Amino acid sequence: MRVGPVIPVVAIDDLAQAVPLASALIAGSVRVLEITLRTPVALAAIRAIAEAVPEVIVGAGTLTRPEDFIEARNAGARFGVSPGLTPALIEATRKSGLPLLPGVMTPSEVIAARLAGFRELKLFPAQQAGGVGMLQALAGPFPDVTFCPTGGISAETAPAFLALPNVACVGGSWLAPKAALAAGDWDAITELARWASGLDSR
Ligand code: 3PG
Repeated sequence: MRVGPVIPVVAIDDLAQAVPLASALIAGSVRVLEITLRTPVALAAIRAIAEAVPEVIVGAGTLTRPEDFIEARNAGARFGVSPGLTPALIEATRKSGLPLLPGVMTPSEVIAARLAGFRELKLFPAQQAGGVGMLQALAGPFPDVTFCPTGGISAETAPAFLALPNVACVGGSWLAPKAALAAGDWDAITELARWASGLDSR
């Protein structure tokens, strides 16, 4: 969460996109990347990036089953991201040793995550959960929690999230648009990455 102001969230449809994407992000000074386990080639994409572009910190997203953790770690993922948190996922992150950025959406979920030892949380889906106002409201009762809001954030709205004291970074798919991926427009992704990596965060 402290590597840069933005974590790109990407679903890879074609394995051939993986390494050029990671290289394009690095060229724009984005050094962290989340590949979601939502496509058949996701684990292979993580493996390819971990091997070919080791300067990128590649993580696995959409971890929803305990077995996802071992598979992601074995593919070379350095961290995991989940849309929510359950006792089974807490056990899986401990057993696998794969660090987890867990998703929360309500105060009760923040309380449960803190009791399990997490202080860095993903607010998901951030915009739909109340966006900037929700994060400002959560700062009062949870002053020791830092968020990576993700979901429904855009290039236009990212700066307002990053200006909040309890936000370290934001996540989102807007940094690697599907159309640019499909067209192999790596220059466009590098340009977006360069802009995003220069955003101020607290
Ligand atoms: C997702 O669930 O795909 C991520 O949270 C990214 O959401 P976004 O596409 O709204 O940025």
